[in-house]
Amino acid sequence: MLSYKHGYHAGNQADVFKHICLIQAYKSLKRLNNSISYIDTHAGSGDYDFKSDYMSKNKEYEYGINKLENYKYENQSIKFYLKVLRNINNSKKLSFYPGSPSIMSYLSDSSDRLLFYELHNNEVQLLKKHLAKKINSKVYNKDGFEFFLQKIKPKEKTLVLIDPSYEIKDDFEKVVKVLQMLDVAYQNVTAMIWYPVLNIENNDLFIENIRKLGSNRITRIELPLKKYNEEIGMKGSGIILFNGSNFLINNMKDCVKELFQIFKDENCNIKPKIQRI
Ligand SMILES: C[S@@+](CC[C@H](N)C(=O)[O-])C[C@H]1O[C@@H](n2cnc3c(N)ncnc32)[C@H](O)[C@@H]1O
Repeated sequence: MLSYKHGYHAGNQADVFKHICLIQAYKSLKRLNNSISYIDTHAGSGDYDFKSDYMSKNKEYEYGINKLENYKYENQSIKFYLKVLRNINNSKKLSFYPGSPSIMSYLSDSSDRLLFYELHNNEVQLLKKHLAKKINSKVYNKDGFEFFLQKIKPKEKTLVLIDPSYEIKDDFEKVVKVLQMLDVAYQNVTAMIWYPVLNIENNDLFIENIRKLGSNRITRIELPLKKYNEEIGMKGSGIILFNGSNFLINNMKDCVKELFQIFKDENCNIKPKIQRI
């Protein structure tokens, strides 16, 4: 039984970080390929209204997108992300936060193929409605972890976003297994796996398990927000990038430093990380 609802968290710091990276990952592949496939293994419902009950409960977006909305500096990845959000909203002032399906649906062109997996019944109905007119998109009410590899075509450049809710603890183990399978047999895939930093020991273990795979195609990008030894709550989040191009990694290097300055708590004693693992 799934109880996670992304609406409680939409637009928070982790969402901002993940969506900036997603946009840059798409751009990096489209520089060299006319068309790509995109697979979102954990898609959510599409859009999140700031006035909805979910969004207004914890107002996590106040620490995320709201802090970035008046961004005045020069980072091109951040500026482009804000432009995408405003274009999707059709307004300078945002009334809803677009999730990964909306962002990718906006960015893609008709030659791209977009596949979305969502297991939660209500979320999948909303997503189907949301994408009903998009002829390049398909939505599946199935387990994304289990089925997405079947959809990868050997000759097609494919971008995969794996964005589990980590409601179930084995999601961390599943991620490691997926990376192993990608590394063995999928040269044509770039994958982005989002993860929360919940406690330092488990985080180190997760990263160590990935390191033990011995792949030379994996980069860790981690954005801390709080001291890692605080007792409760999410301390930050990260992205495991599989087969990320230098263009993408370099763009994220500058961007993550700026996000850190904007989002971190004043007592945060950890630095952002971008490292091959
Ligand atoms: C973090 S949210 C997704 C947010 C979305 N990717 C975005 O960036 O806007 C995770 C979603 O995965 C769904 N989910 C959980 N386990 C799943 C599974 N095994 N397969 C597909 N969807 C799943 C949850 O219902 C939830 O809507």
